[in-house]
Amino acid sequence: MPGRSDGSGVRLVVKQVIMMSAIAATPLVLLNCAAPADESSDPALEQQILRGRELVLEHACSGCHGGSFTPDGATWLVGLTPARAELEFRIGACAAQPDAQPCFLTRPRNLTPDDLTGLGRFTERQIFNALRFGLRPGETPDVEITSTTPGEGNFPVTPKYLAPPMPWPAWRHMPDEDLRAIAVYLKQGVAPVSNRVEDSEGPPDFWAGLLAPFLAENPYPAVPFPTNNEMEPVDPSVNREQVLRGRQVAIQHDCGACHGGGTNPASEGFLQGVRPPAFPAFPVGLTGQPAMGGTCAMQPQGTPCWMMRPRNLTPHPASGTGQYADRQIFNALRFGLRPSTTPDVEITSTTPGQGNFPEKPDYLGLGMPWPGWRFMSDADLWALIAYLKHGLKPVDNVVEASDAPADLWASEYTVDKIGPYPAPSYPTTNEVRK
Ligand code: HEC
Ligand code: HEC
Repeated sequence: MPGRSDGSGVRLVVKQVIMMSAIAATPLVLLNCAAPADESSDPALEQQILRGRELVLEHACSGCHGGSFTPDGATWLVGLTPARAELEFRIGACAAQPDAQPCFLTRPRNLTPDDLTGLGRFTERQIFNALRFGLRPGETPDVEITSTTPGEGNFPVTPKYLAPPMPWPAWRHMPDEDLRAIAVYLKQGVAPVSNRVEDSEGPPDFWAGLLAPFLAENPYPAVPFPTNNEMEPVDPSVNREQVLRGRQVAIQHDCGACHGGGTNPASEGFLQGVRPPAFPAFPVGLTGQPAMGGTCAMQPQGTPCWMMRPRNLTPHPASGTGQYADRQIFNALRFGLRPSTTPDVEITSTTPGQGNFPEKPDYLGLGMPWPGWRFMSDADLWALIAYLKHGLKPVDNVVEASDAPADLWASEYTVDKIGPYPAPSYPTTNEVRK
């Protein structure tokens, strides 16, 4: 992150060491200088925890691991619970047809640092290795991994990968310090909760066969800018560094998983929206999780059923984001407001009818994870928009409108269901301060 690796962390540590030795020299000072109870004893650690928390929020980890997009949510990061049974995934042929084979049930795990049932069993490096390399922390030793190819360096010859849909192939594109911050937040910033999640099912090769072609097509690190789908910004007033940051943000948030092209900007259809068969529309049922759990997602005839159609994000002036002002795209990502029907104004509240937040908002459908994206910093959202508008080549691809219920999803986007923006301040009752 610009501005975060500027050495201030190192300076703080140095300053602390100096303070500590001063304290040791004059024991009485300790009594007068004790930090107030509500302040961290280690500011550098607190910065890292806060950064990790921000990343967990903006990557919507809680959408699968529990907690409904807010750190004061009842089941923040505790993993699959009986009350949220829809978070159990069906991977394989049974994803579309309940009785079809193969069928593997996979279960988001407990990410709180409980010693018996959560991440307390693993080191921060094992968590880092899970996010960067997809290696199951329970089955992979606590070592620095030196390659991304099985058998090369000390990358395991027969890697035991985390089950889908854990999106580590996108998370791995985060910079080292961001992945470490996530590990530090999970281990040191979250309160331990005992919740034993049954192991995920999977093929005997721990998904290696399924993942190999995907990982080959979506390499890490990403191919250099610009690919055949991309272009150098033409407008001289556009900041190229900002465009590159936006590209990084798009890749690590997996926009291409739905909008086309996965995490590889060189792949066919990258961010061009629904283009069957590779990037089809997907059904969403009432439980709100794409392609799973929801009634029609599991049973073709089930109701209710809405078809979600990820849209064309390239800057084409007729069928893509070229139709919208930058701020309309910003409002889509921060507030979930549909850019084609929401005016180009600065939104001054998050509550329908308050300030100039539309009284009857036209929200983007449940398949679009904006309740997570909204936690990105303004700078990252503007960078993302700069990339979509100036770093991608315009491609004409008309995407049919998604289905929507009569209230345009308003009852699914209440504060009860998705938490407040901004997030409640740290630490909530689910969190601890070191
Ligand atoms: C789309 C759903 C989904 C999202 C979003 C998601 N995960 Fe996961 N995650 C899973 C599933 C499913 C598993 C279990 C994989 C298995 O059992 O092999 C898992 C496993 C993990 C594990 C391994 C834990 C263990 O005990 O083995 C870690 C660590 C993890 N996730 C961290 C994260 C973080 C951090 C984020 C956000 C940056 C995140 N996940 C977002 C679905 C998800
Ligand atoms: C899990 C699937 C999914 C992911 C991941 C996803 N989107 Fe979307 N997105 C959708 C769907 C579905 C729609 C259409 C919603 C609708 O029409 O109601 C959409 C709509 C949008 C729109 C509105 C476009 C328009 O013309 O109305 C924008 C902008 C957008 N997405 C940007 C992004 C960005 C940027 C990312 C990555 C940070 C992203 N999306 C990641 C599913 C996704």
